[in-house]
Amino acid sequence: MRLTVIGTGYLGATHAACMAELGHEVLGVDVDPEKVAALQGGQVPFHEPGLPELIARHTASGRLAFTTDHAAAGAFGEVHFVCVGTPQRQGSGGADLTHVDAAFAAIAGHAAEGSLIVGKSTVPVGTAERLAARHGAEIAWNPEFLREGHAVEDTLRPDRLVFGVRSARAEGLLREVYAPVLGAGTPVVSTDFPTAELVKTAANAFLATKISFINAMAEVCEAAGGDVGVLAEAIGYDDRIGGKFLRAGVGFGGGCLPKDIRAFAHRADELGVSLAFLREVDAINMRRRDKVVGLARELCGGSVLGARVAVLGAAFKPGSDDIRDSPALNVAARLRLDGADVTVYDPEALDNARKAYPLLGYALSAEEALERADLVLHLTEWPQFRELDPERAAELVSRPRIVDGRGTLDAGRWTVAGWHFRALGRPAPVGEGTLEGLQGRGRERQ
Ligand code: UDX
Repeated sequence: MRLTVIGTGYLGATHAACMAELGHEVLGVDVDPEKVAALQGGQVPFHEPGLPELIARHTASGRLAFTTDHAAAGAFGEVHFVCVGTPQRQGSGGADLTHVDAAFAAIAGHAAEGSLIVGKSTVPVGTAERLAARHGAEIAWNPEFLREGHAVEDTLRPDRLVFGVRSARAEGLLREVYAPVLGAGTPVVSTDFPTAELVKTAANAFLATKISFINAMAEVCEAAGGDVGVLAEAIGYDDRIGGKFLRAGVGFGGGCLPKDIRAFAHRADELGVSLAFLREVDAINMRRRDKVVGLARELCGGSVLGARVAVLGAAFKPGSDDIRDSPALNVAARLRLDGADVTVYDPEALDNARKAYPLLGYALSAEEALERADLVLHLTEWPQFRELDPERAAELVSRPRIVDGRGTLDAGRWTVAGWHFRALGRPAPVGEGTLEGLQGRGRERQ
């Protein structure tokens, strides 16, 4: 089939490349000529495993091309996918639909008779209905559930496909688009517009709730002397609960979960339904960042003023260079405002971090970040941070004290190597020295 993909950001570039991989001829459209030129040249402006190879292969074969010309796109495609962003609106938690509205207007003005316009963006319930009434064209809603770092895999082998449709013809076209995916046994849920829109927001709300639930348990563990890691493992054995998305730590960030739960609560309010619990989910999540800032102050004797703080991690999660609403950078920036001398290291996100937070210090390796640090904060769980040698790390720092904000470091190894080790929601390891003792034995290398 001939498909167009409007918006070539994270979602659109992945969708376009994966549709070409499924055997379609695909034209990606974007208003940004630089982005279009880069993608046409096989360059992907963000880190996503497997995507550069896919884009390079299909642009080279001619099955995938990019343009800024909506008229050309309208003439080209039988099915047009709208994949533009829905950021948080300034001043309220609601979603900003400017890009969605503009993309629908642009393509509807050029789409050939009988073509289908499919929204993939995450939108407040009611958007598809409104757009259908406005444009008269046939519309469907087909939300995406891809995770950054697994975007290609999630698009080619999704857990499920959701089709919000109003006609058998629209459903038929979507089944034709995804025929190889459906052929692999992927379940499809065919439903109305509001349900399709809500599936996406409900899924993200549930995931965010699961993370904040375990982080609330971490708060209780901190107060009661329990271990949230053991607690999560034990409750996760219950199939009804499941162990996934129960990793306690500094909380969720990124371009989706935080803004999507706010937009969902806002939209529910408009509909007269209270989703107040989502505001608590948000608040718990933010409190975890406060907790790390508080621990940093405590470990530095009450104030971080003048302390050298090494922050391991800048991306909102490992496997990504995305720093949108990154807990790691949020904590780093707050400590810097408190007068700390902060040095950040991340394997992929340094360029993005430097642009957004030019006042923070940056290192080109974890070792360089650790040099002469008074405190180390582990805030994005890249696998290479787990491989760090605590003995060697202790030789690099001024004072061996670390906060594991992701619960993935081996507390025993770090403690044996002489570190004062703290993790969120977990008791200090047995044999941990007192802070006073630690300050006494800290290596003075200033
Ligand atoms: C999310 C959804 O998973 C995806 O389905 C949707 O389409 C977009 O939003 P993504 O933003 O890529 O995807 O990240 P995800 O892997 O869900 O992680 C979100 C955040 O939660 C990260 O900051 C991660 O570090 C954090 N997280 C995740 C936890 O703190 N604990 C966990 O147990 C899991």
